[in-house]
Amino acid sequence: MAPFPRVPVALLLAAVVVAAAEAAAYRDPGGRRDKARLGRCIFAFGNSLTDTGNAAINPVTAGGTFTRLPYGETYFGHPSGRASDGRIFIDFLVEELKLPQPTPYLAGRTAADFQNGVNFAVGGATALEPAFLESQGVKTFVPVSLNNETRWFENVVQQLGSSAHERRKMAASSIFLMGEMGINDYFEALLSNHTIDQVAGLVPHVVGTIRSAITAMIAAGARTVVATSMTPLGCAPYLLTMFPGDRDAAGCNTRLNGLAELHNRALNQTLAELRRAHPGSSPLYADVYGTLAAAVASPAEYGFGDTPLAACCGAGGGAYNFNFTAFCGDPGSTACAEPSKYVSWDGIHFTEAANRFIASAVLKGLSEC
Ligand SMILES: *[C@@H]1O[C@H](CO)[C@@H](O)[C@H](O)[C@H]1NC(C)=O
Ligand SMILES: *[C@@H]1O[C@H](CO)[C@@H](O)[C@H](O)[C@H]1NC(C)=O
Ligand SMILES: *[C@@H]1O[C@H](CO)[C@@H](O)[C@H](O)[C@H]1NC(C)=O
Ligand SMILES: *[C@@H]1O[C@H](CO)[C@@H](O)[C@H](O)[C@H]1NC(C)=O
Repeated sequence: MAPFPRVPVALLLAAVVVAAAEAAAYRDPGGRRDKARLGRCIFAFGNSLTDTGNAAINPVTAGGTFTRLPYGETYFGHPSGRASDGRIFIDFLVEELKLPQPTPYLAGRTAADFQNGVNFAVGGATALEPAFLESQGVKTFVPVSLNNETRWFENVVQQLGSSAHERRKMAASSIFLMGEMGINDYFEALLSNHTIDQVAGLVPHVVGTIRSAITAMIAAGARTVVATSMTPLGCAPYLLTMFPGDRDAAGCNTRLNGLAELHNRALNQTLAELRRAHPGSSPLYADVYGTLAAAVASPAEYGFGDTPLAACCGAGGGAYNFNFTAFCGDPGSTACAEPSKYVSWDGIHFTEAANRFIASAVLKGLSEC
């Protein structure tokens, strides 16, 4: 991976742009060119790593620290509802693919609001249903699961297309982005005192839920689907603070990275099975894990500073600059002078600089179309 993502991103784009242009040029049986609104848009699913505004509206999380400065300071100049100092990976995708920014689902009502695509991702969302997690002894915080997002999508599709044919055509020319899902399930299980081995028992359930969601997208006519891998959990400041010991050469926790790799093997295998079962659609795997783990192991090569395991914004200093009771945006927390030198923004979420690398990993996944 080259040190700066602009060039590889631009090269990888070619394949995707061609595919999108072909979709836009699709002619319906009557010979008329598709209306622009039936062309190219993004439907996104996920949690805070993909959310562009839903958690700021969801009553459970509205007014949270991420709705205050310094969130948004680098790019928007004000909090934008994104859990970062600036743009998140979907913003870079939209920019590079020249697609409209999808409307956060909770910010829209009508078909007109949703015609440019929809972002269903909600900060704090779990893959699994809260009722299931509670039955496993896991305390949950935000009562939105991937099933909720899938049902919202199915409702929006009904709103957007007046006929089954029109609806399928719209889905066929759209990009479906399955953002990372499962982090909140695993984190909440760890907070509920499950051991890492017990949490590993949730992986088949989490990946099974992702499989169901992608199957629903394909059933609606989706052809271009990309799912992002689990991030390196063992390199995340908040989890490093919780789990001293078991460090690798980069300072990451080997057991938590093992959990992420277990998830990723199951996800990768599930996507391969879905490709075999649905040859017309090709759900693809985006290796965000490999990109981020490489950046943490060799930060200078990616333009980061020499503390890739520390949060830019937080309190407490030390190796991780993370304190759950003095979170970024809380009194007593401070932000670093140069967020672009950090991988982690607030100890849980990524800086805009790291999100650009995540976007290039997703574009690489998409280019394998
Ligand atoms: C999510 O789904 C659950 C279970 O079906 C339902 O009870 C809940 O109201 C949904 N939540 C939202 C925010 O739609
Ligand atoms: C987890 O363990 C801690 C410390 O023993 C305890 O205070 C906390 O209540 C436990 N949490 C749950 C959800 O059981
Ligand atoms: C995903 O699976 C394919 C085989 O289907 C394999 O070639 C590839 O290395 C796997 N990638 C990861 C990151 O596990
Ligand atoms: C975390 O922050 C709280 C509140 O500011 C403080 O009382 C506590 O000592 C801090 N803990 C650590 C480990 O720095």
